[in-house]
Amino acid sequence: MLAIDHKSDNSVEILFERMQDVLASGSDALTDSEVNGVYKYEWSVRVENIIAVPLSCNNKIIGMMIATNLLDRNDFDTNNIRLFNAVATECAIFIGNQNHFMDLKELLIGSLKALVNSIDAKDQYTRGHSDRVAIISKWIAEHYSKSKKIGQEDIQKIYLSGLLHDIGKIGISEEVLKKPGKLTEEEYEEMKNHPAIGAGILSEIQQMSEILPGILHHHERFDGKGYPKGLAANNIPLMGKIVMIADSFDAMTSERTYRKALSVDDALKEIEANLGRQFDPAIGQIFLKSDITKLWEILQTGQNDDQYHDSSIDFGATAIGALVH
Ligand SMILES: [Fe+2]
Repeated sequence: MLAIDHKSDNSVEILFERMQDVLASGSDALTDSEVNGVYKYEWSVRVENIIAVPLSCNNKIIGMMIATNLLDRNDFDTNNIRLFNAVATECAIFIGNQNHFMDLKELLIGSLKALVNSIDAKDQYTRGHSDRVAIISKWIAEHYSKSKKIGQEDIQKIYLSGLLHDIGKIGISEEVLKKPGKLTEEEYEEMKNHPAIGAGILSEIQQMSEILPGILHHHERFDGKGYPKGLAANNIPLMGKIVMIADSFDAMTSERTYRKALSVDDALKEIEANLGRQFDPAIGQIFLKSDITKLWEILQTGQNDDQYHDSSIDFGATAIGALVH
């Protein structure tokens, strides 16, 4: 929109201040005409005439709409001023709505992060687990997308389901959650409720509906011996299969109160040994054949690299954006 050939870096700021002066004096626009041309031709020689009108939102000027160099006349007239103000009003409404949308999106991201942190805060040994499962899930989904038809939006949804997979643990008692060692049958039954509790919490947020399969089914096993539904093989949604591998890999390579962390190699061997039992063989193979050293580097730094332009936090924001159309 801006057609000023900058004489200096701050020419836009100067124009903005001048436009505000003109508006304060009761005009609807800054023009550079000879009639009210106190600002005449201080811009580049190629700017022969100019009009600047405010973009106002909630009685605040949030920007300007500027045009220069009328083709067939010497300067902008009152009709142009009216037309420009009408268009600027529409643009300002649009920009204002966009800003509200961004605020809402940030609020939603903040709320989800707070929810995730509240789970991780319950148990210091699982701190950071949700973030890492999200990164690993994204990693698997990206490698999977090279051979299958899933797009960027699917990858974003899988990332979010990884981030929120254990959100239902908020409804599990701390004694069970933090118990070192094996759970009793009763305790295990309680623990098994967390996927359904998580899906229940998020089902209250309409935009989250598309990531619910990853939350509800991240403990389903390929052989059908998982929970909550006991789904097997291809009845398990893709999101569930991917988060299952990501969750298991991170759990095995993290230290817990009752056991030491497995080495990366041993964790990979464990996954390989359980292909077709706990894990989907095809997706498991995709994970095993990927550059795990690189993934490990990303997990340690918490930052994605050249191949993954955004940090995981930015990716989370983009992913939420894909859900909140
Ligand atoms: Fe879980």
